[in-house]
Amino acid sequence: MSKETKFKPSASFVKQSAFPSLARYKSMHRESVKNPKKFWDRLAKEELDWFAEPKKVLEWKEPFSKWFGGGKLNVSFNCLDRHLQSGRRHKAAIIFEGEPGDIRVLTYQQLHDEVCRLANALKGEGVKPGDRVMIYLPMIPEAAIAMLACARIGAVHSVVFGGFSAESLKDRILDCGAKLVITSDGGYRRGQVVGLKQNVDQAVASCPEVRRVIVLKRTGHIEKLNEVDRWWHDLVKDQPADCPPEKLDSEHPLFILYTSGSTGKPKGILHTTGGYLLGAHLTTKWVFDLKKTDLFWCTADVGWVTGHSYVVYGALSNGTTTLMYEGAPNQPEPDRFWSIIERHRVTVFYTAPTAIRAFIRWGDHWVKKHDLSSLRLLGSVGEPINPEAWLWYHRVIGGGRCPIVDTWWQTETGSHMITTLPGAHMMKPGSAGLPFFGVDVAVVDDQGKELKPGTQGKLVIRKPWPSMLRTIHGDPERYAKQYWSEVPGTYFTGDGARMDKDGYFWVIGRMDDVLNVSGHRLGTAEVESALVTHPAVAEAAVVGRPDDLKGQAVVAFVTLKSGQKAGSELVAALREQVSKEIGPIAKPDQIRFAEALPKTRSGKIMRRLLKEVAAGGAVKGDVTTLEDLNVIAALQSSSGEES
Ligand code: WT7
Repeated sequence: MSKETKFKPSASFVKQSAFPSLARYKSMHRESVKNPKKFWDRLAKEELDWFAEPKKVLEWKEPFSKWFGGGKLNVSFNCLDRHLQSGRRHKAAIIFEGEPGDIRVLTYQQLHDEVCRLANALKGEGVKPGDRVMIYLPMIPEAAIAMLACARIGAVHSVVFGGFSAESLKDRILDCGAKLVITSDGGYRRGQVVGLKQNVDQAVASCPEVRRVIVLKRTGHIEKLNEVDRWWHDLVKDQPADCPPEKLDSEHPLFILYTSGSTGKPKGILHTTGGYLLGAHLTTKWVFDLKKTDLFWCTADVGWVTGHSYVVYGALSNGTTTLMYEGAPNQPEPDRFWSIIERHRVTVFYTAPTAIRAFIRWGDHWVKKHDLSSLRLLGSVGEPINPEAWLWYHRVIGGGRCPIVDTWWQTETGSHMITTLPGAHMMKPGSAGLPFFGVDVAVVDDQGKELKPGTQGKLVIRKPWPSMLRTIHGDPERYAKQYWSEVPGTYFTGDGARMDKDGYFWVIGRMDDVLNVSGHRLGTAEVESALVTHPAVAEAAVVGRPDDLKGQAVVAFVTLKSGQKAGSELVAALREQVSKEIGPIAKPDQIRFAEALPKTRSGKIMRRLLKEVAAGGAVKGDVTTLEDLNVIAALQSSSGEES
């Protein structure tokens, strides 16, 4: 186990934070879990604008929940209209930077008008409340506009990440029965035009139900449209900038977002209106300790849940300014992000460990070229952050001054579940921290018995929460089986974790990534963390390989920082390093050096592929030469599907 260090947020940060003490957090958390209905009822009424106030906080027929029954509201009203009355009318809602360098600012009024125009256009196309609309766009303001326009008229959006293939798009369109697709002629990525429209054409060819495709002009490289297509600008041209928001039941579906399971086809995770918005709103407000003057930048694509909850809904519901960047972090140079932070004066920056490790690899000099003094808070999401990366993020990006919130959650949870609450909590690099309000998480054994601190087990959530998924679209049985049958009476996250004596949660990773070596449980993330502590290592991925003697042997795939040499000496040093950090049991049986680790388009390491490579018998040539795993990754991912 790696040494534990604690970091305290600075006194000046604490003084200005909404939750300036641990005692305050603890008493409020205790209350919220003891009497969640009272807690959520109060906040729902205080924080959201309702057309009709909710009457029944929760109706719970395990595993199905209904929140805020009798309540009527509209998400787009909460994200737009209410700010027009509160002095934010002319405040920037979205600051956008395209990859080629084009910048656009949309005030709340302007965003409202654009949303209304598109909402009216959608109505004109016959879209009714409950109808599904597919969104397949680059990271441009129109992605948010399209989401909000759907929300305004009660249509259910399903955003598909622009990096997914035509085939995946088709599967998703068919699964959710969408009749309308919103896309663009393309977007910019790494200096190239990404042609989204071709994928839509290909997908729609096998989707006879789709009767309209709306095409936004972004790159201007498409001249002619098909019969089913209409230009966005033509459809909205004569639409009024006013569209009354639909008064929707709290449980009206808001969106379906597809996510990969460990097996089978992607699941359409369904989120609804009131509960989801409350979760996204409150976590954005408190976890990022929002101030009126903040410029909030969450780097996730809107194609992922992080983009839904933190680029769009949570940010706008709070009336904050959200920054959207279209392109790659190393276009034209590896300092693009730092240049954006400097030029726009970003104050809160939220990104993923995988990105942080890339930045480390590219070198500090890219960061040093820029003034990042506007930053006051940093966030991490998506996977356990190895302490090495945490410390670098804290020191180099945060200048030692910014607290880091490590936020654990899932597509299914809708919003943060376990997270550092800056101001109130000490930070422990590598731990996501303590449960958010109203969230009752525990680490349990196979029988559902809570485990002692320090013991690794299954991470479960024992009570329903407002922003929880309601079902898997079209498959309530799979929903019940997948999440509510593993540990009776609780939601099983699929993650392994342990809680320490301070109540901090240390997420090890997906249970299927936990190895069993000679009867010992070993988190791949822990071994990786140990490996990247070595100064030569940029990134590491550890998988299990069937082993006659130990059950599983440990195989590590490692990429090196520039200028570092692979070789048997380094192999020995790295094994020693792991042995020192964790114990001899965790020593990798094999270390393989790679040019780069194979990743999905969303930046997740393709472990299943690495497991296959690791299990693939004889290693070609000398293991100390660099392998090009991306070649294999490219073959495997040509279907565009996430592993
Ligand atoms: C899985 C959910 C919702 C965020 C984007 C990913 C892992 C996520 C953390 C974190 C350790 C994390 C978990 C979780 N994960 N955040 N801060 N620390 N692990 O959403 O694709 O639904 O994946 O990501 O394994 O189960 P997702």
